[in-house]
Amino acid sequence: MRVRVLGAAAGGGFPQWNSDSEACRRARRGDPTARPLTQASVALSADGERWILINASPDLRQQIEANRCLHPRGGRRSSPIAAVVLTNADVDAVAGLLHLREGTPFSIYGHHRVLRVLDDNPVFAVVNRELVPRRRLEPDEPVDLADPRDLPLGRTVLPFLAPGKVPLYLEDGAAAEIDTEAMGGDTLGLEIGLAGRRMVYLANCARITAAVRERIDGADLLFMDGTLWRDDEMIAQGVGSKTGRRMGHISMSGPQGAIAGLRDLRVGRRVFIHVNNTNPALLADSPERAELVRAGWEVAHDGMELEL
Ligand code: MLT
Ligand code: MN
Repeated sequence: MRVRVLGAAAGGGFPQWNSDSEACRRARRGDPTARPLTQASVALSADGERWILINASPDLRQQIEANRCLHPRGGRRSSPIAAVVLTNADVDAVAGLLHLREGTPFSIYGHHRVLRVLDDNPVFAVVNRELVPRRRLEPDEPVDLADPRDLPLGRTVLPFLAPGKVPLYLEDGAAAEIDTEAMGGDTLGLEIGLAGRRMVYLANCARITAAVRERIDGADLLFMDGTLWRDDEMIAQGVGSKTGRRMGHISMSGPQGAIAGLRDLRVGRRVFIHVNNTNPALLADSPERAELVRAGWEVAHDGMELEL
């Protein structure tokens, strides 16, 4: 299976439009150790012809142009994008659907809580449901992904509940749902398998639990939530008032972090994705990057190609 990282950054991208941080300035100056990143998304293909997107980032239009495998080649109006699997309804996961509005069929997969957000927001009606079916994912129920005509795409996805929360814009009045692991569905992790090999995509994960460790153990390829280096990073940098945990994101470092929490598991390749522009590990020459590399991790970058 071919796997292509379309975007590796968290919401806002790198550089972020309203950030004048040193890291963002370096990215704008073209510093090769601070390469710009679009917002997180990954594309997969079983046959190299038809592609499945994990999430539709607000940068999708740019991502399509930057990746030849996603260019139309089947007629005047066509696309190799056959399906989009949504792991949550955050802006950085769904806004890109609006780029796919010009009447070319594909299928959308998501938990019903995520599909409800699309159903409740009339702007998403521009993605014509007659051509673009919305299909439900149920936690722990494997789905053979198919294009809108139900032709199989050769990939089975097993969605699972991830510790997370409702999207930021739905937090008002949802105090009890800030951590929705128990009720579930607002954030999913995905297991995608192929002939005994297994990829896990978990870009929104509030913390490591026994269940999360069980999913990840033995994976050949892991895309893990790499939003922050440390939990109080936004506060320490004076750009936010929330901890990572409160935002539904685990940190890379520290005793509660992803590096420590997954250290003893058997994983083929460990790749951080959804990396925030405040995270020093974005910078290729930072001590934090060196530390994660020493611990066996990589940081995804736009255009990164992997095989499973
Ligand atoms: C997140 O990952 O926490 C969200 O993308 C934040 C946002 O919607 O801005
Ligand atoms: Mn996000």
